[in-house]
Amino acid sequence: MTEKSARPAVQTGERSIQRCIQPSCGAVFAIHERVIVCTHCGGPLEVQLDFNGLENPRALRDTWAARAASTDPRDRSGVWRYRELLPFASEAPIVTLAEGNTPLYDAPRCADYSGLAALRLKHQGCNPTGSFKDTGMTTAVTQAVLLGAGTVVCASTGNTAASLAAYAARARIQCAILVPSGQITAAKLAQSMDYGATICEVEGNFDACMRLVQELAGDPSIYIANSINPFRIEGQKTVAIELMIQCGWRAPDHVVVPGGNMGNSSAFGKGFDELLRLGLLDRLPSLSIIQAEGAAPLARLFAALDRAKPAESLIPDALVPVEHPQTLATAIKIGSPVSWRKALRAVLNSRGQIITVSEQEIADAKAIIGRDGIGCEPASATTVAGIRKLVAAGHIRRGDSVVAVLTGHVLKDPAYVSDYHRGSLSLDSTAPDSASREITGQFRNVPERVAATKAAVLESLRRRG
Ligand code: F0G
Repeated sequence: MTEKSARPAVQTGERSIQRCIQPSCGAVFAIHERVIVCTHCGGPLEVQLDFNGLENPRALRDTWAARAASTDPRDRSGVWRYRELLPFASEAPIVTLAEGNTPLYDAPRCADYSGLAALRLKHQGCNPTGSFKDTGMTTAVTQAVLLGAGTVVCASTGNTAASLAAYAARARIQCAILVPSGQITAAKLAQSMDYGATICEVEGNFDACMRLVQELAGDPSIYIANSINPFRIEGQKTVAIELMIQCGWRAPDHVVVPGGNMGNSSAFGKGFDELLRLGLLDRLPSLSIIQAEGAAPLARLFAALDRAKPAESLIPDALVPVEHPQTLATAIKIGSPVSWRKALRAVLNSRGQIITVSEQEIADAKAIIGRDGIGCEPASATTVAGIRKLVAAGHIRRGDSVVAVLTGHVLKDPAYVSDYHRGSLSLDSTAPDSASREITGQFRNVPERVAATKAAVLESLRRRG
């Protein structure tokens, strides 16, 4: 236990602990200790819940179903509704924006495009700030308040920042965000400005911002809200519960997520694993992660693994970072993901895959998601592009039940959408190993200028019909 930790004003769930996931360490910290990473070995921490207090876990399904009709703010939240699986005392004051509760859509055009009989899209972009980050920020900022933290800080490609800024504003605590200068979308930056965060546009990429945040973590006034913080993962894992409710508690064969800093995949892995241990699921869905070709350190590592060996023995000590990550899906332009160990463990345990998709594949998949009337930001579209490849490779079969997780709203990056449809999308790169690459919009939909007459409009419709 650390000497630094302060006792919070209100204690979080006493039955849980924080544990270092490094097999050679395994150090344990109390749930109210203010630690972000292991103070012994620097390894990542994970919350470990004590399920012994749950007398009848199967009854939780009915409890959660009943809460969906309640007007209590804790029940309206699609995170806190599942509070039996969160490491907080039931009386803890929560910071919430009624997050979660996101739709699961049928996507017939995406299914055709991917070579599947059916495909469902879980749209986490329908959260209050437009991305899946809100489900983790409600718990991380609640923990920050419980710990009496003065300032919350994160490194971000834009969505984490917007989400943290919003929840910090709700909690009335100071927020600072570190973003790579000129590399996040105008919409995401605008959100953080509106929510009143202190915005540091760092001269460097996301990985540089993340390094800076880890240095700042030692400062007692600062509480880090990146997904390296285990309380983020606790909130984010509840999407696995919500998804299983939407699936009638029948686990899909495959769940496919984009991979950036790897918090989301880690959270899905933990959520499914806990449901399995509680007997609420009878098997794990196979969890696969899709990375953009130019920012794919974990897919590279995965491709080099000898998967005949037992899963735990396959996780190496270190990940070789991508020095100059490149992708137009700026949300996942990350070369050194902090949560790669947890994510790799979840993929190996569920016999999933980690693969890459090209910029062209991302762009076309994104347009198809739009044609289903759904839409998403570029990073989210890696999922449909990846599923198409996994079907072609035989890892996913035509009749399998598959859920793709869309992580961000289509309006997070309108410039990308417009450039794709107008034919001006290209990957301009200053990195030595890649030239400027044009993207051909296979599913372009270009606006047409027409005269202000009925005949001109009808003529335009006829041409397009
Ligand atoms: N999709 C979107 C829209 C994201 O914003 C992110 C990550 C990811 C996917 C990848 O998720 O990092 O959990 O593997 N965005 C972070 C941010 C890095 O700062 O907003 P991950």
